[in-house]
Amino acid sequence: MICLPHNYPLVAAAAAVAFLPALHAYPSSRTFEESCSAFASELDLPSVKVHFSQYLPTGYNLSVPDFVTQGSSRNQIIGANVCRVAMLVNTTETSNMTLEVWLPVNWTGRFLSGGNGGLTGCIQYVDLSYGSSSGFATVSGNNGHNGSSGQPFYQHPEVLEDYVYRAIYTGGVVGKQVTHAFYKNSVSKSYFMGCSGGGRQGFKMAQSFPDVFDGIVAAAPAINSNNLISWGGWLSTIAGFNTNSSDFVSESLWQVVHEEVLNRCDGLDGAVDGIIEDTDLCHPQFERLICSQNATNSTNCLNGAQAAKVRALYEPLYGINGTLLYPRLQPGTETTTYSTYFAGAASTLASDWYKYVVYDPTFDPKTLTRDDFAVAAAQDPFNVSTFDADLSAFKRRGGKLLTLHGMEDHIISSEISTVYYHRLAETMSLSPSSLDSFYRYFRVSGMSHCALGSGAYSLGMYSFGLINNALEQDPDDNVLARIVVWVERGEAPEYIRGTSFASGLPGSETAYKRKHCKYPARNVYVGPGNYTDENAWMCQ
Ligand SMILES: *[C@@H]1O[C@H](CO)[C@@H](O)[C@H](O)[C@H]1NC(C)=O
Ligand SMILES: *[C@@H]1O[C@H](CO)[C@@H](O)[C@H](O)[C@H]1NC(C)=O
Ligand SMILES: *[C@@H]1O[C@H](CO)[C@@H](O)[C@H](O)[C@H]1NC(C)=O
Ligand SMILES: *[C@@H]1O[C@H](CO)[C@@H](O)[C@H](O)[C@H]1NC(C)=O
Ligand SMILES: *[C@@H]1O[C@H](CO)[C@@H](O)[C@H](O)[C@H]1NC(C)=O
Ligand SMILES: *[C@@H]1O[C@H](CO)[C@@H](O)[C@H](O)[C@H]1NC(C)=O
Ligand SMILES: *[C@@H]1O[C@H](CO)[C@@H](O)[C@H](O)[C@H]1NC(C)=O
Ligand SMILES: *[C@@H]1O[C@H](CO)[C@@H](O)[C@H](O)[C@H]1NC(C)=O
Ligand SMILES: *[C@@H]1O[C@H](CO)[C@@H](O)[C@H](O)[C@H]1NC(C)=O
Ligand SMILES: *[C@@H]1O[C@H](CO)[C@@H](O)[C@H](O)[C@H]1NC(C)=O
Ligand SMILES: *[C@@H]1O[C@H](CO)[C@@H](O)[C@H](O)[C@H]1NC(C)=O
Repeated sequence: MICLPHNYPLVAAAAAVAFLPALHAYPSSRTFEESCSAFASELDLPSVKVHFSQYLPTGYNLSVPDFVTQGSSRNQIIGANVCRVAMLVNTTETSNMTLEVWLPVNWTGRFLSGGNGGLTGCIQYVDLSYGSSSGFATVSGNNGHNGSSGQPFYQHPEVLEDYVYRAIYTGGVVGKQVTHAFYKNSVSKSYFMGCSGGGRQGFKMAQSFPDVFDGIVAAAPAINSNNLISWGGWLSTIAGFNTNSSDFVSESLWQVVHEEVLNRCDGLDGAVDGIIEDTDLCHPQFERLICSQNATNSTNCLNGAQAAKVRALYEPLYGINGTLLYPRLQPGTETTTYSTYFAGAASTLASDWYKYVVYDPTFDPKTLTRDDFAVAAAQDPFNVSTFDADLSAFKRRGGKLLTLHGMEDHIISSEISTVYYHRLAETMSLSPSSLDSFYRYFRVSGMSHCALGSGAYSLGMYSFGLINNALEQDPDDNVLARIVVWVERGEAPEYIRGTSFASGLPGSETAYKRKHCKYPARNVYVGPGNYTDENAWMCQ
């Protein structure tokens, strides 16, 4: 599906061949493959040690045993002919990061940095393949440590500093230098795209290093990071660790709670389709689930203590002095949130952060209290909170930030993105229409954490392992294509359109599409078509 106009300036397939030689200034006597093999020995940048440079053809099945790709896959299919450059970059005398830059034959002059997730630690090969097959010179790094645990942070502030901002900053700067050295031509425009921890990295770059990227897609951001982690720890302590306790709410009872939430809130947007468009409007009354006096069967109702617990889990988290630390869990995610926070185990994120950053490995995350949350918030190492609501410098330099959050996010409540929107407007004293010039926030119904969910969640953030040129997609359907046309042609999004799949999983047939509204608008079903008809909805 090629929906971009044929005169699209930098991507048009036919034009690519013609402008290719201009960008590739390596000696014409050398093929791309020869230039690639020679590149490792030619590249000379301070603090950088190139491991190798390797030509990979389209369709090649690359084994990446040390790192993750998508999910548990240990292989990445190559989406376009690329020169893969792998290197180690020293960030201090005792810390370093591994970095890969993938340089496509059909380079568009653009540069893309992918992000990381959680506390990782992992080169995202899926981003490298997706970006390079979309014509971007693409960089991804290990964020200064290997693996998903927070353990490398313990007593190593330099490794923590890499995680907070230095690795993503360094990846951007070094990645551009490598790109320039290879093509003998400067990068035209630079982009960042990340979700979750990667969403936080995108906000960090806009807040503190506004010059590195022209356009940023920052999804489901882990901003207000210390308090996010505390909130997760707090949810686990409220849910409780004794699964036999009479007030423990089992997974099957959460299913009952979920049905009540849908009964109360699904239709508020006009369509009973199993998807809540605006969770702000949803205020379920959990007392309604208390077993009737004469009930003989309590598998589908709650006792009073369970109802109190469920209600408490939907409260925002306040600090010792009454300040809001983190907004409430969004209703509608009961069954998926169970495994993240309610299953009777300490939140892994809180466990790692409190053991390896806030305190020491002897700390028991089951004992977390509000006093601990205050300690963590006060530490805020290297400003990991990433909650600075002044984007003046990013705005001044013409940067564009597209942010989005799934309304079924079971790890990071989407309400934090709404809180940030209000803080930004207030701090910068800008109305929604003024914010629109550089910052647009979309609430994506039916989307879980970064991907999956019950609705139209696929937005082009990932290729899902498919070989897929983002820029061949309609920017309405693909946030990477969208940020490019916003930055380069001023075509800012009024909505972003998600795709839902027949089986619920990517790769299967498209079920329907739905437009997701730019905040503060909310999506309302107005008919007359079926709810699966995107034109039956209106942003109000
Ligand atoms: C590069 O672009 C040309 C022209 O569109 C196309 O024929 C060719 O397949 C592309 N090569 C790769 C490796 O993507
Ligand atoms: C990186 O740091 C290590 C340890 O200090 C040192 O041995 C190595 O030479 C450095 N590499 C570069 C490229 O600076
Ligand atoms: C890539 O290689 C792995 C391991 O050898 C294999 O399991 C997988 O099926 C291959 N993928 C494709 C698309 O050939
Ligand atoms: C990178 O730094 C880690 C310590 O954080 C060290 O263990 C490792 O040897 C370093 N790698 C290289 C190649 O210098
Ligand atoms: C991460 O793994 C790579 C590859 O195995 C290694 O070269 C690097 O030193 C590791 N980094 C750290 C910080 O241990
Ligand atoms: C819960 O009850 C089961 C079965 O009676 C028992 O095996 C388990 O240890 C108990 N768990 C706790 C946390 O008390
Ligand atoms: C419970 O049972 C009693 C006695 O049969 C009856 O009077 C009462 O109305 C019942 N309550 C409910 C809520 O059904
Ligand atoms: C209790 O209710 C559940 C759900 O309605 C039902 O599946 C189950 O069979 C009932 N159990 C008894 C003992 O009636
Ligand atoms: C309240 O506590 C938070 C952190 O827990 C702190 O940032 C804030 O400054 C405190 N406010 C007052 C008024 O003490
Ligand atoms: C954190 O941010 C504050 C306010 O922007 C700044 O003054 C301070 O230097 C930053 N601290 C670090 C360690 O970056
Ligand atoms: C709308 O489409 C869904 C899914 O195809 C279908 O189940 C439903 O019956 C349709 N509703 C109406 C009113 O046509």
